[in-house]
Parts: sequence; C-alpha cells; structure tokens
Amino acid sequence: MNLSELKKQAIEEINRAKSSVDLEQIRIKYLGRKGQITAVLRSLKDLGEKERKKLGRDANELKNSAEALIAQRKIELLDAEASGEEKKIDITAPGTKVMHGHLHPITLITRKIEEAFLSMGFKIIDGPEIESEYYNFDALNIPQDHPARDSWDTFWLKTKPEKFLLRTHTSPMQVRFMEKNNPPFRIVVPGRVFRYEATDASHSHTFYQLEGLMVDKHISIANFRAVVEEFLRRIFGREIEMRIRPSFFPFVEPGFEVDMKYGGSDWVEIMGAGMVHPNVFKSVGYVPDNWQGFAFGVGIDRIAKLKCKINDIRLLYSGDLKFLNQF
Ligand code: FA5
Repeated sequence: MNLSELKKQAIEEINRAKSSVDLEQIRIKYLGRKGQITAVLRSLKDLGEKERKKLGRDANELKNSAEALIAQRKIELLDAEASGEEKKIDITAPGTKVMHGHLHPITLITRKIEEAFLSMGFKIIDGPEIESEYYNFDALNIPQDHPARDSWDTFWLKTKPEKFLLRTHTSPMQVRFMEKNNPPFRIVVPGRVFRYEATDASHSHTFYQLEGLMVDKHISIANFRAVVEEFLRRIFGREIEMRIRPSFFPFVEPGFEVDMKYGGSDWVEIMGAGMVHPNVFKSVGYVPDNWQGFAFGVGIDRIAKLKCKINDIRLLYSGDLKFLNQF
C-alpha cells in the first residue's frame, strides 16, 4: 500500500470511530509499536538516500497529521460520551432523598412560650443585644461598684467614652419599655444574652431568656404566681410542681427565684423574679407610690432542657445534626 492510500484509509477509520475505545484501537493499528505508519517509518533505513529523504518527509507528515486528527477526534468522542451519560435517565431508579430543614429547638420552645403569654394578654417586645452600661446595670439599681455586678460576668466592648456590653440579661428592656410607655401593661421580651463565665451542663456563655413585666395599680405576688403556674401548665401540658424561694436582685423588692420539677428531675432553678423596685420606677420617671408590678427572667434553655430531656444545654449550640434532628 502506498502512502496516500494509507493516509486515506487512516483518515476514514478515524472519522468513523464510534467510541473512544474504538479510536484507541485505530491508534494502535496505525501508530502503535507494530502499527502500519510506524512500519513505514522503520523501513526507511533500508532505502537509498534519495528515496529515504522523500518518503521520510511524507511518512513523518502522515504520522503527525494522524496524531493530530486522533487527538481532536478523541475530544469529540469523550465529550459525546459524557453528555450521553447525562441524558440517560433511568426513571425506575430510586430517587435521592431530599433533606428537609426544621426549626431549632430553642426557636420551637420560644414560640411556644410566646404563645402562652400572648394568650394571657402579654405583648411581645424585642430589644438590642448590645447594651449600654446604663440600661444593663445603672437604671436597674445596680450602680458602679455595687457588688451585685459580680453576679453577671460581662463581655465588655472596647468603646469609649461610653461603655457598651453584650447584655447579660433581658432586664434592660424593662427600663427601655417603661421609658416610652405608661402603665398598665404586660409585656414579655425573649432574647439572647451573654455571660463571661465557665460553662457546664446547665450553664452556657450564650443563652436565651424571656423577660416578663406586668405593671398596674394593684399587682401582687399572687398575680405573679398565677401567671407562672399558667405558663408552666401551657408549656408542659399539666400542673407543674413549683416553689418560690426568697432571693436577691437589686431591681426587685422582694426578690425570689422559682424552681420546678419535671420528669423525675430534682428542683431546677428556672427564673429570677420579684416585685419591681421603687428605684427602677423612679429611673423611668414613674411615681413609685402609684404603681406596682412584677418582673421575671426565665431561662429558655432550662425550660428546653427539662421539656426535651436534654442532659447538657451546650448541645443546643453544638450545631450537631445528630442531636438537632431529634426535634
Ligand atoms: C437574671 O438574669 C435576672 N435578670 C432575672 C430577673 C428578672 C430577676 C426580673 C428579677 C426580675 P439570673 O442570673 O438568675 O437572673 O438568670 C435568670 C435565669 O436564667 C436563671 O434562673 C436560669 O434559668 C437562666 N440562666 C442563668 N444563667 C444561665 C446560663 N449560664 N446558662 C443558661 N441559663 C442560665
């Protein structure tokens, strides 16, 4: 076979190749170690010089153009094979499962708590997570150097001259709300709070509270007790064993803490509370003798811990889907 016939045949076969596997066979047939073009190149050494020069040039040209053509055809075939696979849809194959997101347990329980208070006539109010020293402490009857400030280890922000912080509780919203509104009213303020303290199974450095505040002419501890009992009944679906203990917070007088039991637990402290201190009324411009009120700050994480039987509240902030998907 002369070179031009060999060339014609090779081009035809390369163009007709149906797959990249086919094409590889064709490459071996012409350019492999024992390939037909390779054989022509090998035979050159037996030829006379003149003939060798001419045939050598033509044979090398053929080799180069065959290689180029194969490379180009290979790209075409691989492309076609790849898109062919995409087009093949097996409608009998089992589908891939679509993962559904859902609300975080803290969000779920917060909404439930909000519903409970809405149904008792409370309004829901929002407040800032970055607070001034004035609202977080001073206006709540906790002046600078008051030892009670130690109860709230604080993340301070590097601001001057006014000092800002991450609120350590939701109580500053008592002051912000009363500055702008007159009694009678009842509000709750859910929100995230921050404390610069060591963590354990029931303490996190970041957690959620819900502040409650009800102010009117004749409010007593009996009203507070009735509201808390109803709140717990709605969240846990039945009468809950609770107790009120005396405690101290500068912004209430008297102050107390509420503990509850649930699902075989021991007493768990769920909130601080008390009757609004006259100094707080004064700081917002109310006449203390005219008004009475109760305030409380309940730990939402503690309620979630009890209700959902979570043994460590830090799991709520772990981002661990194995844990979160249970809710
Ligand atoms: C306060 O924060 C007061 N502001 C509550 C208050 C409001 C008193 C209104 C009087 C009137 P205390 O630091 O005790 O108080 O926190 C209140 C509740 O938040 C606790 O009972 C507990 O349920 C929850 N809590 C406190 N610290 C943590 C923490 N590190 N991690 C998770 N929950 C916490």
